[in-house]
Parts: sequence; C-alpha cells; structure tokens
Amino acid sequence: MGPIAVFDSGYGGLTILESIRKELPEYDFIYLGDNARTPYGPRSFDVVYEYTLEAVKKLFSLGAHLVILACNTASAKALRTIQQKDLPRIDPDRRVLGVIRPSVEAVGDYSENRHVGIVGTVGTVLSESYPLEINKISPDIKVTQKACPMWVPLVENNEFNSPGADFFVKKDLDELFKRDPKIDTLILGCTHYPLLLPKIKMYMPAGVIVLSQGDIVSKSLKDYLYRHPEMDVKCSKNGTVHFYTTEHPDKFRQTAGIFFKEDIRVEHLELNN
Ligand code: DGL
Repeated sequence: MGPIAVFDSGYGGLTILESIRKELPEYDFIYLGDNARTPYGPRSFDVVYEYTLEAVKKLFSLGAHLVILACNTASAKALRTIQQKDLPRIDPDRRVLGVIRPSVEAVGDYSENRHVGIVGTVGTVLSESYPLEINKISPDIKVTQKACPMWVPLVENNEFNSPGADFFVKKDLDELFKRDPKIDTLILGCTHYPLLLPKIKMYMPAGVIVLSQGDIVSKSLKDYLYRHPEMDVKCSKNGTVHFYTTEHPDKFRQTAGIFFKEDIRVEHLELNN
C-alpha cells in the first residue's frame, strides 16, 4: 500500500490537493512541486515530458501506485505518452491520471449556450488538447482559448494579490471575451489560476460560470477509486499528507501555508538524477 501522489510544476496543484483531501480525507497523500523548474507552460513538448516522467518515476519510488498530474501543461504534453509508452514498461499496475479529461467531461453540463472559454498556459493552449477533447464529447460546443503567460509567474512569485495581477488578468480576459462575447462558461485550464479567482471574477462579464478544477478532479478521483477497487486497496488510509519540492522547503512552506493551515512537513527532492 502507498499514498496517492499529486504532482505539479509548482504550487498550482495545491489547489487540487486541497479539494481532493476534502473529498477523500481518510487517504494518505504525497505532493510534489517541481518549483525549481517551474513554469512548465513555455517549455517544449520534449522537456515537459522529460520532467514529468522524472517526477512520476520518483513518486512511484516513494510508494505511490496512483499519480495525479495536477497540472494541465503536463497533462496536455506528457500524460498520453506516459500512459501508452512508459507505464507498460515501468509497471503496468500503476496508474497516472490527468486533469484535462475530467474538466472536459464536466463542461457540457454547465454551458447553456455552448460557448466555452479556456484560459491556460501557452503549452496547454498550443497543444489544442481542450478543443480536441471537447469536440470528441460535445461537438456542438464552440471553444475559444487564451494563453495567459504572466499568470503562473504572478502566482509563483506571490504577486497574485498585487496591482500587476489586476493588469494582466484584465488584459487577458478582455481579449478573450472580445474574441467571443457569448462565452457563458470559463474553464480555468491551469491549476495555478484559482489563486487569481478574486481578480478573475472582478474582470469577467457578470453571469459567466467559472469552472476551477479542484471540485471536478476530486469528484472524478473518488469515482475512479470506487470503480477500481483493485487500485483502492493499494491506497493507504491514515489521513496523512507529506510535501516534496525541488526548491528550498522554507520557500515552499510559506505558499503552501495559504492552503494548509496546519504545520506541514516539507522535504527537498532532486529530480534530475
Ligand atoms: N499548474 C500548471 C498547469 O496547470 C502549470 C503551470 C506552469 O508550470 O506553467 O498548467
């Protein structure tokens, strides 16, 4: 038995872990933030794949049988190759799941006029993962995407409440809603973005529904464990959470404190060896 692992390039996955722990409080979790190499958004397909695979292997070696890529960029650029090419070779009984599929499955239930907006990193937007996946499930939905390259650095640098955040959130949302003023549902297609939610709500048109992925992913994980009892029995259940970062633990602890009020255990981890 082992913990469920949650991985992100940095702090964004904490927004997912927070929701998952509320939904599944009895399970054990480990979280890994690759803060030393964040952001992944502007990086090439090959580099994001290489970094994500290193993280997955490390999380397996720490005892996880199930890894959640709580990162849209990694889900868009690395998940499929890891699932199809690497897992059968590394260990066919372990699983890696992402955040895009559950979000895409949920969006059709929310949009009434079938106009959906996606905000995400450059990598996620260029991968076209959202339009392609939404088109498979709900071909009647018109998808408009906008890359917001400054939003992750604002979060990673603790600037998400600053006037700089107002400037970039307003600028990017204005552009998105100018391209499709009919958007009635907005997917936050990056796990860092819920930290900017107060600003996002301030600058988007009234009445638009914002889907952040915490709730969607945690419900989908609960459902997955229910449908896969062979995986559920491998997940230990003592209600613990342990954090790892490729950066300095003190730096990580400060930001993680926004989500987890208790005194958290953080350890440094090297990935590129
Ligand atoms: N939190 C990530 C995502 O959901 C990645 C952000 C980044 O590293 O650029 O896309």
